[in-house]
Formats: sequence, structure tokens, C-alpha cells
Amino acid sequence: MRIGIIGAGNVGNALATGWLVAHHRVTFGIRSPLDAPRSGPTGASYGSVTEVAQEADVVVLATPWQAVADALAAAGNLTGKMLIDCTNPLRMGENGLELEIGHTISGGERVAALAPGASVFKTLNQTGFANMEHARSFTPLPAVMYVAGDDETKKPLVLSLVSDLGFQTVDAGPLRIARLLEPMAMLWIHMALNRSEPVSTAFSLTNRG
Ligand SMILES: NC(=O)c1ccc[n+]([C@@H]2O[C@H](COP(=O)([O-])OP(=O)(O)OC[C@H]3O[C@@H](n4cnc5c(N)ncnc54)[C@H](OP(=O)(O)O)[C@@H]3O)[C@@H](O)[C@H]2O)c1
Repeated sequence: MRIGIIGAGNVGNALATGWLVAHHRVTFGIRSPLDAPRSGPTGASYGSVTEVAQEADVVVLATPWQAVADALAAAGNLTGKMLIDCTNPLRMGENGLELEIGHTISGGERVAALAPGASVFKTLNQTGFANMEHARSFTPLPAVMYVAGDDETKKPLVLSLVSDLGFQTVDAGPLRIARLLEPMAMLWIHMALNRSEPVSTAFSLTNRG
């Protein structure tokens, strides 16, 4: 599976590390390929956003929310591709970080509107980046990661890519459920930033049997 990650920051590097361990091929699409970092995950390669997005089977969007429109414009036509949207539509408000949109529209749906023809999935947005790199380390319960998207044919592949990182994956339903998954991310951010919860904490599921 050729995975093209747009954005080689915290999330992009964490995901690349986890997927390389699972023997996927990972290429980063970055704005300045000639200045590709020398210290990125071993085995990852770098190219322009356009070439990486066009060559990948799965495109992963891992840029700041404010860069999403530019990054997708640079990616070009993504018709027929899987597009995993890890972004959260954050902005700085008077009480700190907050969601810019919600309730009636989500970042995931905005991404879908900017990438017509792509099968968009909202996932890998609900926990901190270090938990994505070390998702196999949670014990005794696995960390959970919900996946929302409309393309039922391609969803099993996305669920499998997310579980390759070590998460317990749950199909949360259609893409509009990103309206719930983005506030869930905001709760994790709030607990880490404002309530001193360790960033090694992740959501998990339990069941009374
Ligand atoms: N940090 C977390 O724990 C976490 C967890 C879940 C979800 N998220 C979400 O994931 C996204 C990325 O977060 P992050 O922490 O990885 O951010 P980050 O460390 O700031 O990395 C963002 C990356 O995006 C690149 N970028 C910026 N504008 C771009 C453009 N127009 N085209 C292509 N690449 C561009 C940046 O590269 P340049 O060097 O070119 O600027 C940088 O490598 C955000 O939307 C965030 O809300 C973050």
C-alpha cells in the first residue's frame, strides 16, 4: 500500500513511523522537497505534494487546518483515491484553542468538498501524535480510534490501516459523524492542555459484558 502523507510534522512523522513498522511504503508530500529533512523516519521518502498525492493509493492529510485548502489544491485531482483526514478545525479563541466549526458541518465534510471524487475518511484526529506512534503500547486495553466515512467499499481498508498502527478501530458511520469526532479530539486537547492529563492518555472502550 503506497501511503502519501501531506505534512511532515508531528502527526505525519508519527504515522509514518507506525506504518513503516507495519511494512507500508510511505512518502511525504512537502512544500520544499529540495529541503527534505534528513532526520525523518527511516525508510520514508519525500516529494512534492502534487507528485506524492498523485502516486499514492491512500493520501493522508496532516497539515494545520488553516493550510488544508492550499494543500488540497496542490495535491490536484484526487478522484478515486482514499483521503484520510487527520486534521482538526482548530483556531485560537479567547479561552485558548477551540473548534472553528461544528454542529452543522465538520472539517471532514469541508475536506470532502475541497477534494471532489475522493473517498474521505475522518480518523487519526482523536488522540495526540505520540499515541499514534506508540498505539501498540497501550495496556491492558487498546486505545480506540473511530473512523467515519461514506465509502463503505473502501472503509475496510482504512480500518485495517488504522489498526496496523495498533489501535482498536471502530466504524463510526458516515463522514458527517466527523461532527462528533472533532469535538472528541477537542476534549483530548483540553484535558492535555488545561487539565494536566498526560499526553500518553488515550480513549479506550470497555464493556460490562
Ligand atoms: N499534534 C497532534 O497531537 C495532533 C493530533 C491529532 C490531529 N492533529 C491535527 O493534525 C494536523 C497536523 O498537526 P501537527 O501537530 O502534525 O502539525 P505540525 O507539526 O505543525 O505539522 C504540520 C505540517 O504541515 C505542513 N504544511 C503546512 N502547510 C502546508 C501546505 N500548504 N502544504 C503542505 N504541507 C503543509 C508543515 O510543513 P512546512 O514545514 O512546510 O510548514 C508541517 O510539516 C492538524 O490539523 C492538527 O489539528 C494533531
